[in-house]
Amino acid sequence: MLLDLAARRRVLFLGGKGGVGKTSLASATALAQARAGRRVLVVSTDPAHNLGHLWQRPVGDDVVRLAGPFGPGAEQGAGGVVDGVEIDPARTADAHLAAVRRTLHRLTPEHLSREVDRHLDLARGAPGTHEAAVLERIASAVEDGLRDHDLVVFDTAPSGHTARLLALPDTMGAWTDGLLRRRERSERLGAAARVLGGQGEAEARRDGEIRRVLEERRARFAHLRDVVTDSDRTAFVVVLAAERLPVLETVELCARLDALGVPVGGLVVNRRSPAGAGELLASRRAQESHHLGTLTAALGHLPRDEVPLLADDVVGPEALTRLAAHLA
Ligand SMILES: Nc1ncnc2c1ncn2[C@@H]1O[C@H](COP(=O)(O)OP(=O)(O)OP(=O)(O)O)[C@@H](O)[C@H]1O
Ligand SMILES: [Mg+2]
Repeated sequence: MLLDLAARRRVLFLGGKGGVGKTSLASATALAQARAGRRVLVVSTDPAHNLGHLWQRPVGDDVVRLAGPFGPGAEQGAGGVVDGVEIDPARTADAHLAAVRRTLHRLTPEHLSREVDRHLDLARGAPGTHEAAVLERIASAVEDGLRDHDLVVFDTAPSGHTARLLALPDTMGAWTDGLLRRRERSERLGAAARVLGGQGEAEARRDGEIRRVLEERRARFAHLRDVVTDSDRTAFVVVLAAERLPVLETVELCARLDALGVPVGGLVVNRRSPAGAGELLASRRAQESHHLGTLTAALGHLPRDEVPLLADDVVGPEALTRLAAHLA
């Protein structure tokens, strides 16, 4: 299911609880797709990144090559590749606030500049600032990724966080719309005041620029929402362990994604205890089957992969290739 889905989509989100195997499966899928000739970008949005550890090379806020090129045309720079980037929320929020500060200082009258700084210093620690900044980065990663890559795989942070992030475009779209409406009113007033009182051109230019900034932002979030809710281009895959709580949380997450209009493409049950490997694992396997019964009852309509518990940690390209083989 996962490899099939990856082959047919442009954007894949992998979500699920901490430690279930999102990063490993995102990377294994990316590698398999790159070997099939596609240009793949893996984006980690989890503040506790481990893409670098998994690929055994430094990964950071700028896109780096993780594997490839593979296949025909590799010599000419064509062919499949895996690129990776880890979005750093703190750095992203700081860069975002610095840009906002520059714009605001340019657009606000001199005597309000201390006020602007004070507000931005408060915003830096406010809840939501990091998430909003990360969302902007996700939006631009989708835009850039769809331009430069065939497939963008998001290795997301543990569940709750992801669903909240995916709901943000709507919330922030509404917020931006509200601001734009208020600006429209004040622009009309401003125009009237200019006719009556002969105010300068500078204010009119400033109003125009603020409107442009807000409209760009709204367009970016609208585009993200369009991509994320388009089942032809995008799928969300939930990774889980066959245990009681993870199963219940998966059912809950799928309901939330459904309500947000985000198409859930399937489930990957990772680290399934193998059959025929001794008494201990056999009784674990029976337990797991019981919990998977609950999963089937609630989400039996979704395609599902099972990946066995492997003897070793998944580190390096060879281990990723072995992991991908279990998905095939
Ligand atoms: N099928 C498997 N068999 C054995 N070990 C596995 C399997 N899948 C993943 N692992 C191991 O489990 C650990 C967690 O995997 P991974 O880092 O991919 O999970 P994650 O969901 O990204 O975690 P986090 O939420 O902390 O980012 C790693 O040490 C990885 O090597
Ligand atoms: Mg991870």
